[in-house]
Amino acid sequence: MPASEITAAAAGSWTLGDRTVRRMGFGSMRLTVNPDRDVAVRVLRRAVELGVNQIDTAGFYVSPGGPLGVGAGPRRYATDLIRAALEPYPDGLVIATKVGPSFDDATRHRELTPAELRREVEENLRRLGRDHLDVVNLRIVRRSGRDSVAERFAALAALRDAGLIRHLGLSNVRVDHLDQAQAIAPVVCVQNAYSLDGHRWADDVLRVCGERGVAFVPYFAIAGAGREAGAGAERDEAVRAVARAHGVTTHQLRLAWTLHQGPHVLAIPGTGDPEHLAQNVAAGAVRLSPDDLARLG
Ligand SMILES: NC(=O)c1ccc[n+]([C@@H]2O[C@H](COP(=O)([O-])OP(=O)(O)OC[C@H]3O[C@@H](n4cnc5c(N)ncnc54)[C@H](OP(=O)(O)O)[C@@H]3O)[C@@H](O)[C@H]2O)c1
Repeated sequence: MPASEITAAAAGSWTLGDRTVRRMGFGSMRLTVNPDRDVAVRVLRRAVELGVNQIDTAGFYVSPGGPLGVGAGPRRYATDLIRAALEPYPDGLVIATKVGPSFDDATRHRELTPAELRREVEENLRRLGRDHLDVVNLRIVRRSGRDSVAERFAALAALRDAGLIRHLGLSNVRVDHLDQAQAIAPVVCVQNAYSLDGHRWADDVLRVCGERGVAFVPYFAIAGAGREAGAGAERDEAVRAVARAHGVTTHQLRLAWTLHQGPHVLAIPGTGDPEHLAQNVAAGAVRLSPDDLARLG
């Protein structure tokens, strides 16, 4: 089948709480970079046409001023772009957002208080035009020095009980954070930085999530060590060789590798480029052999 005809269904599905989602999703952080909002709208609509039904976002995905620190012109929020592109939202679409860090210039990377978390949830509801949020991840700030997620996760659990949130997740966490949260309320997903050659300390988190039926959702699966700066030229010869053998790009290969780390692993590749979007969705159809996986490490 030509790559352009492959849909997100090729990557298979996973049950997230009470919702079944395609494992191949979409990350919206990069959408705000391009000042031409029509491109972002086009990418989002195409993602849904290609069968993507889980989209990751955050109220602080904004340019200029957000985590990417790029862009010019009027402020463009990913949540606004999602609403502009997709409202009325198709049945079955799961939008996962995250709250936790402050992105004000003066207080960047401070942990939000429980009251501030509530305001952030309300801001997401307003911008997305929803009466509840499908998934909210508590994104912790490891450098803040605070090691317990209990108080803030309990604050989100209260919002879940009040019907503002359907399911809860965590982001940037260790296994002991997951233990703390699961003692308070169900956790449907963990979103951590993770790639073939980056953040492999999280192998442990990925494994434990699988054992507990929690989705593991890697970010920077393509960008790896490039992190916010994005994907650079591929330096790993094994990645280049296996990609060549499968007739795919090294970016697709990296994405395919993450999907092979377990049936509970979901992909949220980020792009503002329609062609990259189609390539990423097509990566869900790549089937790596045990030999390929051994070679990639
Ligand atoms: N929980 C958290 O703390 C956290 C942190 C960061 C990100 N996230 C979420 O995770 C998502 C994924 O992270 P990410 O977007 O930073 O990194 P990523 O998906 O690993 O990689 C994105 C980078 O790769 C490029 N790219 C994507 N597809 C490509 C392709 N097929 N060929 C060539 N280049 C390609 C993108 O540039 P182009 O735009 O040019 O394609 C961008 O530079 C984000 O969008 C966001 O929703 C969560």
